Amino acid sequence: MLILVLGKGKTGSLVAEVASERGHGVRALDITENEGASALTAPSLAGVDVVIDFTAPEAAVQNMRAVLAVGARIVVGTTGWYAHLNEMKALAIRRGGALLYGTNFSIGVQKLFRLTAELAKLDGYTFSITETHHLTKLDAPSGTAITLQQIVEAAQPGTKVEVTSHRVGDAKGEHVVTATGPDDIIELKHAALSRRGFALGAVRAAEWLNGKEGVWDFRDIFDQL
Ligand SMILES: NC(=O)c1ccc[n+]([C@@H]2O[C@H](COP(=O)([O-])OP(=O)(O)OC[C@H]3O[C@@H](n4cnc5c(N)ncnc54)[C@H](O)[C@@H]3O)[C@@H](O)[C@H]2O)c1
Repeated sequence: MLILVLGKGKTGSLVAEVASERGHGVRALDITENEGASALTAPSLAGVDVVIDFTAPEAAVQNMRAVLAVGARIVVGTTGWYAHLNEMKALAIRRGGALLYGTNFSIGVQKLFRLTAELAKLDGYTFSITETHHLTKLDAPSGTAITLQQIVEAAQPGTKVEVTSHRVGDAKGEHVVTATGPDDIIELKHAALSRRGFALGAVRAAEWLNGKEGVWDFRDIFDQL
């Protein structure tokens, strides 16, 4: 496959590395080469099987618009753009493109989502979420913490789950779901040790997306990888 990676930052550069280790052809563009999605034209995307985006919220929206408009395929790891999700879904479907997005491409975090849904069935407990990321992360709470909050709130209708965000050094990403009852506390914790888990999940998602048309949340397909 030929994969075009957008963003040569902390995660995008690892995505390019993992993709080439898995035998794919890789091209990568950073902001200087793709400001305002300027490099994403029909001819430039012609030989590309899947684009993978790890940029910034506004850039990701511009990139998706350009890629989906020509019916191409994109995996979006960037978070913080979901107010535009319906627009992107409609564009992908109208143009025969493919969009796979996810707040967290780590398989371990996907397991945390499943375990949280199970934990959230408990009655008589108060739920809270804490997340810790590096100082330069743009969005707070993290997309993953918002997903966890939605999972608990869906299982406990009418409750509001508090999310606390910490920004510390180069933290790779930690999420803790706490259920506090009158007699005990239950905690589920995921701590990323490196960014490689996200990069590997994103490349495997791109392999899965190749040849497909439509829109998927990584949560719904990760166990097919
Ligand atoms: N879904 C996941 O599993 C997951 C995991 C890690 C990070 N993220 C998200 O991915 C995004 C990037 O994270 P990061 O830590 O790698 O950030 P980063 O700041 O290290 O890297 C982002 C890079 O994107 C580049 N960029 C900006 N606009 C661009 C454009 N139009 N075209 C090409 N490149 C452009 C920047 O120059 C920068 O190098 C964030 O939204 C973060 O929350 C998601």
